[in-house]
Amino acid sequence: MFRKILYPTDFSDCATKALEYVKKLRGAGTEEVVLVHVIDVREIETVATGAAWLGETTAEYENEVQKKMREEAEKKLEAVKSELEGAGLKLSVKTPEGIPFKKILKIAEDEDVSLIVLGSHGKSNIREMLLGSVSEKVIRGAKRPVLVVKRETSVMW
Ligand SMILES: Nc1ncnc2c1ncn2[C@@H]1O[C@H](COP(=O)(O)OP(=O)(O)OP(=O)(O)O)[C@@H](O)[C@H]1O
Ligand SMILES: [Mg+2]
Repeated sequence: MFRKILYPTDFSDCATKALEYVKKLRGAGTEEVVLVHVIDVREIETVATGAAWLGETTAEYENEVQKKMREEAEKKLEAVKSELEGAGLKLSVKTPEGIPFKKILKIAEDEDVSLIVLGSHGKSNIREMLLGSVSEKVIRGAKRPVLVVKRETSVMW
């Protein structure tokens, strides 16, 4: 039923919890996973602008930040990929740069996935928010089923 899954991750606790469900879905007929981490362009800009006082121009620093973010993401993605392959799944990995929810929705269409699995929250994990902004916009915009894996409920009380 859910032959091909899109699993977007920001490597947060909640996204890592969602990974456990991706693995379990192998037993329910899932064969293929598209693993995605979007390098958030706004994050690159924020870090680079904040460091402009260091004397480097923002553009130079943006390139450095971008390279560093990509290297770190690729290392983490490699570990997630091995884990999923170890569970018997076929993997493809994508690290586009852009606005996370837009890239996630585009890849869902381009790759014609049957399900999107993500965390309800991510790195920010704000106590009062029912959903993070990426998960909210993905749920709103998706033309496909979405499995939202909730964070540990203890954060609420
Ligand atoms: N840059 C990203 N690339 C891929 N997936 C992401 C990215 N950011 C978030 N996600 C996915 O969306 C889920 C929800 O994260 P989201 O960013 O919405 O929550 P948050 O960080 O708590 O809130 P916000 O980002 O709005 O401050 C994550 O568990 C992850 O599955
Ligand atoms: Mg976030």
